Amino acid sequence: MDKKWWKESVIYQIYPRSFCDSNGDGIGDLNGIRKKLNYLHELGINVIWLSPVYKSPNDDNGYDISDYQDIMDEFGTLKDFDELLKEAHALGIKIVMDLVVNHTSDEHPWFIESRSSRDNEKRDFYIWREPKDGHEPNNWGSCFSGSAWEYDDKTGMYYLHCFSKKQPDLNWDNPKVRDEVFRMMTWWCDKGIDGFRMDVISMISKVEGLPDGKPDETTGFGGLENTTNGPHVHEYLKEMNQRVLSKYDIMTVGECAGVTIEEAKKYASLDGSELNMVFQFEHVGLDYDEHGKWTTKRMSLKDLKRNLSKWQNELEGKAWNSLFFDNHDQPRIVSRLGDDSPLSAKAIATVLHFMKGTPYIYQGEELGMTNCPFGSLENLRDIEEINAYDALVKSGKMTAEELMAGIEAKGRDNARTPMQWDASENAGFTTGQPWIMVNPNYTVINAEAELKDENSVFHYYRKLIELRRNSEWSDLIVYGNYSLTDDNSDEVFSYTRELDGRKLYILCNMTDRDIDYNTGITDKNGKAVLISNYAETDLRESMKLPPWFAAAWEIQK
Ligand code: GLC
Ligand code: CA
Repeated sequence: MDKKWWKESVIYQIYPRSFCDSNGDGIGDLNGIRKKLNYLHELGINVIWLSPVYKSPNDDNGYDISDYQDIMDEFGTLKDFDELLKEAHALGIKIVMDLVVNHTSDEHPWFIESRSSRDNEKRDFYIWREPKDGHEPNNWGSCFSGSAWEYDDKTGMYYLHCFSKKQPDLNWDNPKVRDEVFRMMTWWCDKGIDGFRMDVISMISKVEGLPDGKPDETTGFGGLENTTNGPHVHEYLKEMNQRVLSKYDIMTVGECAGVTIEEAKKYASLDGSELNMVFQFEHVGLDYDEHGKWTTKRMSLKDLKRNLSKWQNELEGKAWNSLFFDNHDQPRIVSRLGDDSPLSAKAIATVLHFMKGTPYIYQGEELGMTNCPFGSLENLRDIEEINAYDALVKSGKMTAEELMAGIEAKGRDNARTPMQWDASENAGFTTGQPWIMVNPNYTVINAEAELKDENSVFHYYRKLIELRRNSEWSDLIVYGNYSLTDDNSDEVFSYTRELDGRKLYILCNMTDRDIDYNTGITDKNGKAVLISNYAETDLRESMKLPPWFAAAWEIQK
């Protein structure tokens, strides 16, 4: 058992824009977060991952940074940040920063210089190429629709942007870029922050020569295979580790789109040479279809079980998993996997929070916040959704109704509606006009009501966190070996965890129906219940599981 604090932590992601607005301008801010630290302390988490708070023109809500060492005007000041860090630390809560260094904003001074002339000293900070036969240098598509290349009149060349054209990709092959990034990271570490979540870090090294990718059937653009897990990515992360990370007691998690198990073992190797954990995305792609994410298709439980179990088993002893269903890029899991009910929210939480790895909770997940009925284009804010509308509906590839159904099922704005604090106007998020619509169900689903109700989703999460962090089962939950007990059922998710002769059995009915189920566990096994979303928790060999039944027991081996 190689004990580490970040393996024993529960992390809570804050999307500051939508968390809490302290000054009535309709936008969440740092002082709003400060007001809610006690709430997070009561929930019991011990690490906050803060989505970007840096200076940004907000083309992609802060993931387009124009100054890495200052705070976005709407969010406050560096002084507010220092106060937040101090107050969080006083409560035993660490703060992990979002590190967005695959690209900057086009308004970052480096890019302004870079685009100013072909021989500017910052020219090679970004990826510039000559037109090819009067066109884009290759067929790569942006993750936000359209080409990944933007032509710049001034110097007659194209620059690469894997995301929006206001997010030019940095050229990591240039050692001066790495120097600047590592200097900036050191500045934050010296301030006392506790780690980094690294945005699309698997994309920092592009395939040599930038060859065309395999064209996507719907969009015609080349895929991401030449931009992810590129030839030098591990070399650059090892360098980052040696020059910055290894000097501090911090945690790191890399967002690694397109990562395979083999790659993950390198990124998050337990030898500590690169990062502590990766986010992989296979399980949240199981309900995509041939056109990608814009579909109402639901995932099969069997696929989900097999996928999560594969990651549990194959990283065992080699690398460390991060456990998540929700984040600011994903629809709400209680709508995606459940039926919007509190019971289903608890069952889903049970499945995730007893697995091996470090769990991440996204703001509002602990309340069972659901997807939002946006209804029309004017209610959308996300550049990915808005660009998809232009690319797919205007070109006739999808009808407006089809795309809106896809957006309401999978769009990122579902995660970005304001945090539901109470039943007052605008869910208590702001006294002004919120920057994005509030989910109309805030009168029922909100923190104030749930804090008062000991059977709420909030208190269920609180207990899950307490079991993991501070109970006689903590070591077993954090370090025990995982084993899926039933590979076949498309209705029930059950598995065990084992450590030093002790064993947990986790059983969840992932449907809204009664299910007859044979657990294979006899009376002789002896059992103590750790948690359940039902009052009746007798574990027997043959059981009728009520809708969304979930429980965890300690059983005899
Ligand atoms: C990551 C972020 C996402 C952002 C993108 C570009 O995937 O999580 O929100 O749009 O990178 O920075
Ligand atoms: Ca504000």
